Amino acid sequence: MGFGLAVLGSAIGLGNIWRFPYVMGEYGGAAFLLVYLLVVLIMGLPLLLGEFAAGYHTHADGVGAYEKITPERPWRWAGWPGVAAAVVILMYYPVVTAWVAQYLWLALTGDMSVPAGAAQDARFVALTHDGLAVLLAQAIVLCVATGIVAAGVVSGIERTCKVLMPLFAVLLVGLAIYGLSLPGAQQGVDFMFHADWSAVLRPETWLVALGQALFTVGIGMGVMVTYGAYLPDSHALPRIGFTVIAGDTFVGLLACLIIFPAVFSLGLAPAQGPGLAFVILPEVFERMPGGNVAAVAFFLLLLIAALASMVSLLEVPIAVLMSRHGWRRLPAALLTGSVAFLISLPVALGEGTAWLQLDGMPTLLDLADRFASYVLLPLSALAIALVVGWRWQEKAACDAAGVQGIRARRLWWTSVRWLVPVLLVIVLVSGLVTA
Ligand code: TRP
Repeated sequence: MGFGLAVLGSAIGLGNIWRFPYVMGEYGGAAFLLVYLLVVLIMGLPLLLGEFAAGYHTHADGVGAYEKITPERPWRWAGWPGVAAAVVILMYYPVVTAWVAQYLWLALTGDMSVPAGAAQDARFVALTHDGLAVLLAQAIVLCVATGIVAAGVVSGIERTCKVLMPLFAVLLVGLAIYGLSLPGAQQGVDFMFHADWSAVLRPETWLVALGQALFTVGIGMGVMVTYGAYLPDSHALPRIGFTVIAGDTFVGLLACLIIFPAVFSLGLAPAQGPGLAFVILPEVFERMPGGNVAAVAFFLLLLIAALASMVSLLEVPIAVLMSRHGWRRLPAALLTGSVAFLISLPVALGEGTAWLQLDGMPTLLDLADRFASYVLLPLSALAIALVVGWRWQEKAACDAAGVQGIRARRLWWTSVRWLVPVLLVIVLVSGLVTA
């Protein structure tokens, strides 16, 4: 149970509450949801088990595990695209986490309301344009996350997750019920459940769903390899893998049930982009009796979820420095934390000032996010599937993945060996070409 909750702690983060709703809003609502569910089950689950198995079998980190499975080039490099993805995600994850911290501060100190007559997103725009404040918040959240990884308090994280995750779930359910009771909520629900089927036919939708699935579950960066290495017995892995995917998806759906009804009841458009959650949620809290208390609780929990995920992101380069270059944990953590601060500066400033934004171009945050989710993570997933499916023996791999029963073993093995790589190539190539 501790293992499952730790994996959930890394899985549940900004990907669920910030990213899932706005991506779904931009890519066609229900049609996107359907594609996402297919992708996360057909590709996400076998890949997650593959990562668990590689870690369980080799007791190594996300780079070393694949080297142990196969010393041959280029296969031995299969872990590196994941490290690259971690670095690119670290360019903007701290920025969005900083926004969460700033909203928490607003909720604690005063009101988050938008002045009468101002645009709905005035608060968000003002907040993200205050470069110094964002940088300060970013420095603080990175210090906290670095402190946690530096101390290596795995048990601390695990214990915190055990208490906070159920609390988080209760709060989410409560807010979803509130969201559904808003006037106009029906339109939001309709948006979530009435598909525009033409979106299913666009290859871009599939690539975006794949990127979202890898991002939100946390596949493709060797984090799950590291977790797999800690497990004394592999039997429970398939069940844990499925539970984590189901739980993570459930949280994303609840976030949508909070946000879309509110979007429509406020008369806004669902395709708002990265600001969606930050524009909508404060409005909801503002109208709610006792909303300020709920706002504090919500942003606090979101901050904790984001920090727990950030810890696992930081751990990727730290593990590489430690196991490959013999660094001690403290200097490795300090270096990684400082580098994360430096590389996230351009994104923080790019969101806030005009000097890094070109007309008609996505912001740096958007670019980094798309590159990591739609290029690096799928490439990394492809590398993982190829090494597990083609450079490893069926029996050893199935044993390590804890898959039991002839049929289930066949199914998983055929998936990692054939289905997943073939689908990955199709989705990646057609998605990139048409996008
Ligand atoms: N899953 C986290 C989220 O939804 C982000 C994250 C943490 C992640 N660790 C990861 C993504 C490893 C990919 C790989 O916010």
